[in-house]
Amino acid sequence: MFRFSWQHYRSHLGGIVAAGVSAAVGALAEGISLVLLVALAERAANRGDGVLAELGPFTLDYSTGVLLLGTVGLVLVGMTFRVIAVWLQARTVISWERREEVRAVRALLDTEYEHMASLSPAELQGVVSHVRYASEGLNSTIKVINAAISFLMLAALALVTSPVTALAMAAVGAVLLAALRPLTRLSRRSGKVASQLEVEAGRMVHDAARGGREIRLYGVQARVLDEFRGVATSHAKAKRHLRLIRGLAPVAYQGLGLLFVVLAIAFVLNVGTFDATALGAVALLFLRSLSYGQRASDAQQTFVQMIAYAGTLDDELDALTTARENFGDEPLGRVESIALQYTSYRYPENPSTDDTLIEIDLELRAPGVVGLVGPSGSGKSTLAQLLLRLRRPTKGTILVNEQDIDSYSRDTWTREVALVPQQPQLIRGSVRDNIAFFRERIADDDVERVSIAVGLHDLFESLPQGYDTELGETNRELSIGQLQRLGIARALVGDPSFLVLDEPTSALDAESEAWVQRAIHDISQRALLVIITHRATTLEVCDRVVRLGDGRVLDVATKPAGTSHAALEPEAS
Ligand SMILES: Nc1ncnc2c1ncn2[C@@H]1O[C@H](COP(=O)(O)OP(=O)(O)O)[C@@H](O)[C@H]1O
Ligand SMILES: [Mg+2]
Repeated sequence: MFRFSWQHYRSHLGGIVAAGVSAAVGALAEGISLVLLVALAERAANRGDGVLAELGPFTLDYSTGVLLLGTVGLVLVGMTFRVIAVWLQARTVISWERREEVRAVRALLDTEYEHMASLSPAELQGVVSHVRYASEGLNSTIKVINAAISFLMLAALALVTSPVTALAMAAVGAVLLAALRPLTRLSRRSGKVASQLEVEAGRMVHDAARGGREIRLYGVQARVLDEFRGVATSHAKAKRHLRLIRGLAPVAYQGLGLLFVVLAIAFVLNVGTFDATALGAVALLFLRSLSYGQRASDAQQTFVQMIAYAGTLDDELDALTTARENFGDEPLGRVESIALQYTSYRYPENPSTDDTLIEIDLELRAPGVVGLVGPSGSGKSTLAQLLLRLRRPTKGTILVNEQDIDSYSRDTWTREVALVPQQPQLIRGSVRDNIAFFRERIADDDVERVSIAVGLHDLFESLPQGYDTELGETNRELSIGQLQRLGIARALVGDPSFLVLDEPTSALDAESEAWVQRAIHDISQRALLVIITHRATTLEVCDRVVRLGDGRVLDVATKPAGTSHAALEPEAS
């Protein structure tokens, strides 16, 4: 698993190696300064220069002043390199995280709408959290590597200073690590339980917030709180466990560490090679290396938990990239006709159910207004999404201007089509941003022109900063009717030649409806409109009305020129 997960961080190998090298240099300088410290202590005890010349294989033939300065210098060098290592670590992790965030958002944006719509909000949110977790995986990887390298540097230095002493301590050290293994395993297990409960608690808070209106309406706060308390209580127990174990680990390490130094000294005394200074230096090195060992094993737990997410994230992004939008490169002029030829559609989410649309055979011509009626669930919105190329037929073809709908380029196709959904979504930004909707070609004049057309110009002008007033993510500032009209303005501002309105008047007040009718009438002179509606008043403006039932076209009624809705006649087909 380590090798597999490692692949995900390969792009930042340079940063990982650089941080490791700095940590190694830092630990080496720190280690040498510790050895010198013991030598200095020895001199201080003997009150004189030149008393000590030998320290393991090293001959320290320097004056006390030089040794002191050297020690101070090495402490500073050690600190500097360890700071550099931390800085490199932060830089590498953040750079990796930023790259993955951009990659994730790009994958989300490039994937087919059909695929994106099949993901639950939790799954979409998951992609973002998994970037965080995977980046924590990289962070702990570097931590483990750096702590392990530092540990090894100090151990190597101890070995060089006094091989016998070092080997004796290493032997006791191995016993110590083995003694701590159950603690590590226990901590990993309760860590897993705690994180599962954390997810559950998070979900409950989410539900409590989303169901807020109904919770108050039915007065069930106490019951919801009880359920939450249950989860929070079991959560608390697991977390307390985890904290206890995590807190115990350093105590156990340090206590056992001291014990093993004593044992090692006893062992060396019995073997008979006795060099007090070397022994002191090695003991100091080992005690220091213990804290690196502990840091490595601490980080290793996070590493095990988080590094798995790097693989998860990659799978998720792969799935998004596989379902990438697939456009041709033919340029599209204005939409003149759309023909569905035996088009069927089945939702990918539930492949076991029947087709939602069955062998639809229909031709629509611009300009004109086509009404789409039928009971709820008959497939009207699905058909609209097929016409807009948001979903692709599972059977049959769709021709636009007598060519396959997929042959057109993304740029030219998306310029020609527009949708007024039942509930337009506001984006973060001003009134102007919300109408232009990221399309840079839209001029300010056009934004005002369409606002006038849907009767919102006066309202927008009266806002504190006019068209530059921020609307925010909540729909607080606008009534449903105004929001719906803003949705129409957003659709009209690009001057589309094909426009779908999905129940645009279902929730409108009389004033808004009048504005919508007028806007529909204006655009219908220049474009092909498909309106999904139940309202007789809206149907009156339609040239043809297509009636859907259970995913099939039941009939198509045509209005002879100059007559009203009542005169709609079944089409001879
Ligand atoms: N995202 C979806 N996943 C699976 N089934 C869906 C989805 N959206 C709609 N359906 C199903 O497709 C059928 C037609 O839905 P829809 O086109 O929204 O109907 P209408 O707009 O006429 O009310 C319904 O049975 C509905 O349950
Ligand atoms: Mg619908």
